[in-house]
Amino acid sequence: MAETRKLLPTVGPLLADHLIRLSPDDRRLRFGGLFMPDDVLRRYAEAIDWAHAWQVGWFEAGAMRGLVQLSLPRRDSEAKAPWMKQGTAEFGVSVEPPWRRRGVATKLIRHAVAVARNREVRDLYMVCQPENEPMRRLARKVGLGLTYAAGEVVGHVALASPDSETAEAERALEAAAANGRGAVAWPRAAS
Ligand SMILES: CC(C)(COP(=O)(O)OP(=O)(O)OC[C@H]1O[C@@H](n2cnc3c(N)ncnc32)[C@H](O)[C@@H]1OP(=O)(O)O)[C@@H](O)C(=O)NCCC(=O)NCCS
Repeated sequence: MAETRKLLPTVGPLLADHLIRLSPDDRRLRFGGLFMPDDVLRRYAEAIDWAHAWQVGWFEAGAMRGLVQLSLPRRDSEAKAPWMKQGTAEFGVSVEPPWRRRGVATKLIRHAVAVARNREVRDLYMVCQPENEPMRRLARKVGLGLTYAAGEVVGHVALASPDSETAEAERALEAAAANGRGAVAWPRAAS
C-alpha cells in the first residue's frame, strides 16, 4: 500500500536511489538544466542541509517513488533570488515514470505547502525549465502563478498562516516516518 512520509536525515541513500532511477532528461528538468550523473546525485543527497530542507517521500512497491523537496533560505543568505529572502521557500518535485499521472506530485506539493505554512513561509516558489510542460501544467493546477524570467519559469503562490489542519497534516507525516524508520529526533531549524 502506498504511504507518504516526511523523510528523516538517515534516509539520504533512499533519496539518492529515487533520483538515480530518473532518466538523464528528468534529472535535467528537476535540477535546473544541470547534468546530474549518479555520483553527483549521491553527493547531493549526502550534502543536504536538513536544518533548512524538508523532504516528503511517497513510497510504493518497496521504494520511494516520489519526492518533494522544500528548501528555506539560511538566515545569512545574501542571494538575490526572490526565493532566497526570509519568509520564502522553494520546492522541487519528482515522480518516477510508472507512477506518473496518478496525482502523486499534486499530493506531495500539498504536503510541502502544509510544511511551509507551519514554518511561517509567506511566499512559495518553484523554478523549472521553460520546456517542462508537465511541471508548468502541474504548477498552475496547484495554484501557482507563472512568470518567465532569464530563461526559466518561476512559479509563485502566497501562503496563508498555519492552522490546526496544517499542524495535523505534518504530525501525520512525522508519525508515518517514525513508524517506517524508527523514532529518530528531527533536526531543528536554525534560528
Ligand atoms: C512533473 C512531474 C513531477 C509530475 O508528476 P505526476 O505525479 O505525474 O503529476 P500529477 O499526476 O500530480 O499531475 C497533475 C497535473 O499535472 C499536469 N501534468 C502532469 N504530467 C503531465 C504531462 N506529462 N503532460 C501534461 N500535463 C501533465 C496535468 O495537468 C496533471 O493533471 P491531470 O493528470 O488531471 O491532467 C513528473 O512528470 C516528473 O517527475 N518529471 C521529471 C522531474 C521534473 O520535471 N520535476 C519538476 C521540476 S521542479
